[in-house]
Amino acid sequence: MDFFELVQKRKSVRKFESKAVPMSAIEKIMNAARLAPSWRNRQSWKFILVTDSALKKQLIQCTDSFNQAWLGGEFAIVVACGDPRRSGVRDGLPYFMVDAAIAMEHLVLAATELGLGACWISAFNEEKVKKLLEIPEHIRVVALSPLGYPAKKDSLAGAIARKVVKSKNRKPLNEVYTLNKWE
Ligand SMILES: Cc1cc2nc3c(=O)[nH]c(=O)nc-3n(C[C@H](O)[C@H](O)[C@H](O)COP(=O)(O)O)c2cc1C
Repeated sequence: MDFFELVQKRKSVRKFESKAVPMSAIEKIMNAARLAPSWRNRQSWKFILVTDSALKKQLIQCTDSFNQAWLGGEFAIVVACGDPRRSGVRDGLPYFMVDAAIAMEHLVLAATELGLGACWISAFNEEKVKKLLEIPEHIRVVALSPLGYPAKKDSLAGAIARKVVKSKNRKPLNEVYTLNKWE
């Protein structure tokens, strides 16, 4: 798929077919994440793919009730982690967040290219996720995402989310960038 078609095609997927994703696809997706740029190339991220159904159920319990309403059918839940010790801070901006976010979006776009779906999730209890997955104290959990084959029809929660956040809406280009100065 052409890159511009790919970014048009990507959308948050909130319902999945209960179908396994082959390891070859997982490896391609994770390799796309691996190739992401990062602060001083320190690659401060690490991803945990939760496929075990009992563990997945417990992980879903660590998210807020809205996300709990639609999670569950996916093949895996990706847990994107960042190591602040391996990245930089500039004027209070922690770059491990940026590192993890870029790698995560590589992952999401690679998944889309392979006909899979994902959805960024930020509404979760980090302490609970860390305890469940035995993530070391100094590591931060930046985001979660389900990963799997999209179902033909969206979940009710997905349809509501799309409506509430007007997920198709984007600012017009003239509000996205200017030339030379802020205005
Ligand atoms: C940082 C971040 C956090 C998000 N958290 C959630 C979330 O907790 N639950 C959810 O359903 N969607 C979440 N989303 C998805 C956004 O709602 C979605 O990207 C936006 O509405 C645009 O829709 P689209 O992704 O289908 O283009 C998140 C997206 C981002 C980038």
